[in-house]
Amino acid sequence: MGNFFPRWTNWLPLKVGIAVVFIALGVSICVAYYFTPKYTRVGYEPTQPVPFSHKIHAGQLGLDCRICHSFGEASSHSNVPTNQTCFNCHGQGKGAIRATSPKLELVQKAHETGKSIPWVKVHKAPDYVYFNHSAHLNRGISCVSCHGKVNEMEVVRHDQPQSMGWCLDCHRQPEKNLRPLDYVTKLDFKPSDLKRGEFYKSLLDKKVTAGEIAEVIGGEGAKADGLDAIVALAEKTYGKDVTQKEVGTQLKKHWQIQPPDSCTACHR
Ligand code: HEC
Ligand code: HEC
Ligand code: HEC
Ligand code: HEC
Ligand code: HEC
Repeated sequence: MGNFFPRWTNWLPLKVGIAVVFIALGVSICVAYYFTPKYTRVGYEPTQPVPFSHKIHAGQLGLDCRICHSFGEASSHSNVPTNQTCFNCHGQGKGAIRATSPKLELVQKAHETGKSIPWVKVHKAPDYVYFNHSAHLNRGISCVSCHGKVNEMEVVRHDQPQSMGWCLDCHRQPEKNLRPLDYVTKLDFKPSDLKRGEFYKSLLDKKVTAGEIAEVIGGEGAKADGLDAIVALAEKTYGKDVTQKEVGTQLKKHWQIQPPDSCTACHR
């Protein structure tokens, strides 16, 4: 009896195996890109142990996000405030706010026992993803781009998919989301809140030349010799109000914003 099948068939299982691995990888990239999280995550709104309202604290009271959420260098641990932050206002004694409210019972108890309140996590990137808040906040991306209008939420919910495709959409067009650093935690900010003259002056103050600014507005060859000429050119191009495109393209160019899109930037 000879070998019934030709020799090359010995390699067939290996070839099929390799092909399957590649297809599986391709499929999972597609799945990561298009499907999973959009449908499973957005809207996720767990019930929290204390009925803490961002609408009251960040909206009505206008407390800055960073009083409670501070993102130091590469802090990858959970960044929800300790009970002491709450107790500063809701503690006992004179002037304490609503100290005896049943809704604040856990805050009082946590103070007595020293145990932290078991807040339920809403957002969680998988372990194989590298994400850093300060790398975004220090480059003019606001909380609202990634978490929605938290200052209007009674209970925090997952507002954006935070999928790979979602990260990349912004990385490829950051100008749609860039704003001056002073407004990163101002969730209701609109570009039209800016005064055109002040915005361009802040760029000139940072040693960007009038000519460089004019080229971003009017394309190659556009010229301006000073602040007034820039403002006139911008008004002609964008209209009366400052627009997101106007702010975003200037900041992208002059802050040299270049979000990475190589696999190893986010999967280290
Ligand atoms: C007074 C303190 C306080 C302030 C001010 C505050 N937060 Fe929070 N934040 C909390 C607490 C406590 C939680 C955890 C409980 C919850 O989810 O409501 C939280 C949770 C969150 C979460 C969900 C975290 C997770 O588990 O994924 C986001 C997003 C968030 N805050 C964004 C903001 C933004 C944006 C602002 C500013 C507009 C802000 N917060 C202001 C206290 C605060
Ligand atoms: C800067 C002061 C301040 C801080 C810090 C603060 N709160 Fe408040 N909180 C308030 C005020 C003011 C109200 C509104 C009270 C009212 O409606 O009369 C309030 C209301 C509340 C209520 C509703 C109470 C009720 O009976 O309706 C809860 C629950 C609460 N806060 C939880 C928290 C938690 C948890 C933290 C810490 C993460 C926190 N607060 C931090 C000032 C603060
Ligand atoms: C570029 C998008 C982006 C921006 C901008 C952003 N976040 Fe997040 N945030 C995320 C992602 C992604 C996670 C999940 C991170 C993880 O699991 O490591 C997250 C998680 C959180 C958490 C959960 C705790 C933690 O650290 O894991 C809090 C609280 C939070 N963000 C608050 C804020 C606040 C407040 C701002 C604005 C000052 C902000 N975020 C801006 C994307 C963003
Ligand atoms: C709304 C816009 C936006 C979204 C959404 C966004 N990014 Fe970014 N990302 C940026 C900008 C802007 C920079 C800064 C680029 C620079 O400094 O030149 C950046 C920088 C980075 C960097 C390089 C800086 C560093 O920390 O090493 C990484 C990594 C990164 N982003 C990961 C992510 C991941 C992961 C997600 C999704 C969970 C995400 N980003 C979502 C805008 C965004
Ligand atoms: C800007 C950041 C970023 C870049 C760049 C990036 N990824 Fe991702 N990737 C993510 C995030 C975030 C997730 C997690 C998605 C989720 O949890 O929904 C992810 C998930 C994945 C998954 C897991 C799929 C699954 O469902 O198990 C694979 C595979 C993957 N990425 C491959 C790649 C490859 C290959 C590249 C280069 C072409 C790449 N990624 C570039 C952010 C990034």
